[in-house]
Amino acid sequence: HGVARVVIGRAHRKGDLHARILSDPAARADPYATYDEIRARGPLVPGRLMMQAVSHEAVTSVLRSDAFAVGFDPDEMPWVARHLLTRVAADERIVGPIDPPSLLVTNAPDHTRYRRLVSRVFTAKAVEALRARVEERTTELLDAMAARPHGEPVDLVAEFASLLPVTVIAEILGVPLDMRRQFLTWGSMAAPVLDIGLSYRQFVESETALEEMSDWMYSHFERLRREPGDDIVSKLVHLDDESGKLDDRELLAIAGLLLAAGFETTVNLLGSGAVLLIENPEERVALAADPSLWANAVDEMLRYESPVQATSRRSIRDTEVCGVPVKAGSFVTAMIGGANRDPDVFPDPHRFDVRRSNAREHLAFSSGAHYCIGASLARLEGEIGLRRLFERFPDLSLAGKPSLRGTRTLRGFDTIPVHLNSNR
Ligand code: HEM
Repeated sequence: HGVARVVIGRAHRKGDLHARILSDPAARADPYATYDEIRARGPLVPGRLMMQAVSHEAVTSVLRSDAFAVGFDPDEMPWVARHLLTRVAADERIVGPIDPPSLLVTNAPDHTRYRRLVSRVFTAKAVEALRARVEERTTELLDAMAARPHGEPVDLVAEFASLLPVTVIAEILGVPLDMRRQFLTWGSMAAPVLDIGLSYRQFVESETALEEMSDWMYSHFERLRREPGDDIVSKLVHLDDESGKLDDRELLAIAGLLLAAGFETTVNLLGSGAVLLIENPEERVALAADPSLWANAVDEMLRYESPVQATSRRSIRDTEVCGVPVKAGSFVTAMIGGANRDPDVFPDPHRFDVRRSNAREHLAFSSGAHYCIGASLARLEGEIGLRRLFERFPDLSLAGKPSLRGTRTLRGFDTIPVHLNSNR
């Protein structure tokens, strides 16, 4: 992992713009100018680390093309790419969010089968059934914040943005709410595995968290086999028909991903969305005057501050993207955060506008075969969570500077100190 840092550092010094975003703290805090610079060089820009797609058209075409696949075979990779991309699990039983058979790194035909099985239990109806729970949990969290000593600043991430998604995931997994803190700890320890060039310390930490989580999950599946609930994971555990059943490792990959993808991303939507509305009072006024704008506002938040900034693909045959030839075996970073600020699709892209007519064209949930399974749940949580937050505390204001998380793939805040009321 030290090697990856050296490679990124060297690429940065030689002018690689992708490496700049990965290693320069200022560019990481505000990557949007760098995305503009890369996009200005063309739809697909060769780099020292890998090719970069930043325009909306190029990112869409990479994500939708069947000439590109997810994951990689470490034995076939050049050693530099191997050091940059792989996480070598110490234990066969541990499955991280980016280890096979995780959906994120599995291709057809296995991927098609997993998606079919998951979509049989993660249905629109199942998500709609969570609506009342999301409302209830939101009210409980807001009540708890309101009961805090008057005038004391509150950390919106710790007290709200991280708790709502993890509560919803606990419902999906059929686990008691007292597991929430444990999930949050595992989640934040494991999140850096999504980043290229994580440090050795981060690697050991995430490995430990994933090992504990794996052990816990395996025994949870056993429990659900004996005593099924009406939650989504109980249904996954009990799938057993002509389309097949999932073995424990596959179950872990899917349930672990629901857990990780379910809150490590949504926490960022809630945190960034709250900060955007605090910083743009005129948009807040527009929403208060016309609450029917909320759904669009959430999509504009996803566009403007995409919780997942990038993903990657490798070409499995010679192909082209927007007229640029790509040789088989090339790696491409699809810069979602950059595609969502493409002026060709989103006029005045660096303006946050809850009325933007095509906000929903953002790629924050990816596109193509790996399109986010939780998109409608995330939208539901974003809309209910943020709407109720601002209805309850219309004068919400910052009590200090929000601090960004240290992760690169995932973008959002670690802490957001706020005053809940104006008459503090
Ligand atoms: C996949 C974003 C919330 C479950 C993805 C991908 C993105 C994404 C970008 C695809 C990555 C790629 O193409 O390589 C987000 C964002 C969210 C969110 C921005 C919140 C704001 C959720 C929630 C769940 C979820 C709430 C489940 C409860 C998944 C799963 C996949 C996925 C299972 C894998 C799909 C596959 O590979 O076929 N998400 N997600 N996500 N997401 Fe989400």
